[in-house]
Amino acid sequence: MTQPITIALSKGRILKETLPLLAKANIEPREDIFKSRKLVFDTNQPHIKLLVIRATDVPTYVEYGAADMGVAGKDVLMEHGARGMYEPLDLNISRCRLMTAAKVDPAPTRGRLKVATKFVNITKDYYARQGVQVDIIKLYGAMELAPIMGLADRIVDIVDTGNTLKANGMEPLELIAPISTRLVVGKPSMKMKHGQIQPIIEQLSAAVEEARGQEIGA
Ligand code: ATP
Ligand code: PRP
Repeated sequence: MTQPITIALSKGRILKETLPLLAKANIEPREDIFKSRKLVFDTNQPHIKLLVIRATDVPTYVEYGAADMGVAGKDVLMEHGARGMYEPLDLNISRCRLMTAAKVDPAPTRGRLKVATKFVNITKDYYARQGVQVDIIKLYGAMELAPIMGLADRIVDIVDTGNTLKANGMEPLELIAPISTRLVVGKPSMKMKHGQIQPIIEQLSAAVEEARGQEIGA
């Protein structure tokens, strides 16, 4: 019997790059995701459904088994923790770096370093491993503003071109982790639905390799 499979996709910047990979793996939504307000989409394969949700909610759906598989940035997965899921495939899209950054001309720090970020768990672990005591200030976006306004001495954020940091008088300091988008699979789903899930992983893997080949050839 063909068991139903639900794949949770991150909306936002990752989605545009995810859909062509899914299409190469013969998984195509039956309607235009970008023109719809729906959250659940049927696909050309009757047993496969796609959820389109906030990136940060993807690991939660997979952890609790509400989705069998998910697509999310390594940053989001590191912040959430890997409990309850495997990460069988690097999709090699939305590549960037998770870094610490500071103002180009920082004022001297008094007392403990203040670090603004939306990645609270990653930041705690990172500075604990460095043996540096910091105060972490949770923000939900525009981290680059915090040092400018004197809210923090450092930030921990995504850096790609570096343009956002530069435009705000900041510079990258230390690399915490290279980031790309990953496929995750819930542990119970991998066990119970292996026959359905393994071919999807293999087809996506072939799609990633093909895209990598085009990247090198370009
Ligand atoms: P949310 O919707 O929960 O607020 P978000 O705004 O961080 O999340 P996106 O901006 O769509 O979501 O980013 C999704 C993922 O894309 C991030 O988790 C990261 O892995 C990657 N990413 C973020 N910024 C960049 C960037 N400038 N360049 C390349 N990849 C990026
Ligand atoms: C991300 C990230 C940085 C920026 C880095 O923000 O939070 O601000 O990209 O990219 P760059 O190094 O190429 O400038 P995004 O554009 O997703 O906006 P957001 O703050 O809404 O997440």
